[in-house]
Amino acid sequence: MSKIGIIGGSGLDNPDLLLNSSDVTVETLYGPPSAPLKQGTIEGREVVLIARHGREHTIPPTFVNYRANIQALKDAGCSSILATTACGSLRKEIDRGHLVILDQFIDFTRRRPVSFHEEFEPHGAVHTPMADPFDEKLRGLFNAACDTLGLAHHKSGTVITIEGSRFSTRAESNMFRMWGADVINMSVAPECILANEAGIPYAAVAMSTDYDCWKTDEAPVTWEEILEVFQGNVEKVTSLLVEVIKNMD
Ligand code: ADE
Repeated sequence: MSKIGIIGGSGLDNPDLLLNSSDVTVETLYGPPSAPLKQGTIEGREVVLIARHGREHTIPPTFVNYRANIQALKDAGCSSILATTACGSLRKEIDRGHLVILDQFIDFTRRRPVSFHEEFEPHGAVHTPMADPFDEKLRGLFNAACDTLGLAHHKSGTVITIEGSRFSTRAESNMFRMWGADVINMSVAPECILANEAGIPYAAVAMSTDYDCWKTDEAPVTWEEILEVFQGNVEKVTSLLVEVIKNMD
């Protein structure tokens, strides 16, 4: 049976989620991934987990080797990817601790390789469709699992991925709201693009950790606050992953 890849974002760098786990250090065509792959089982399914920012959270969003991470999961035999991410909220109704099952992204990154294709074969151009970049079936499983577990969640949402590592200015935050983005983070867009290029169904659950700075009745967010909110709600994400995996074909 094929394996399930999990990409753990901020706050889920080294979770104790897998049974009988072992670490495997790998190298890919694109260099080493962010961390050794943690292989094991969840609900009897073979799972491969990778820490997006490294086990000690040493890799800033701009410098994550997204291509190596996706390639490593592909090489390990993963046929689907579940990703987690912390995000800032751009909407009043998306409160701290809420989960958003992303259905669209806006890519506002500037300095990252966003494609596996640096050169085309003669007359072999590759332009990947990206109209609906998150896998519908996996999104359905995420939403059904949120319902089962009674977790406060939003069934869809557009994430804008910024370059970072800084947070947005207030002008940017207001602009992103006008553009129709619901949440903001620093990692999902290139990862999702690359999973699509690699032909691996990909879905992501975003946990809202703060209101981005458009909300002027709150002090602008700090990284420490984001981590604190994520850690306070991390069990929601881990129980969600287990419930989704339980229901995967
Ligand atoms: N990740 C969590 N909160 C964020 C924010 N406000 N902006 C960008 N990335 C984030």
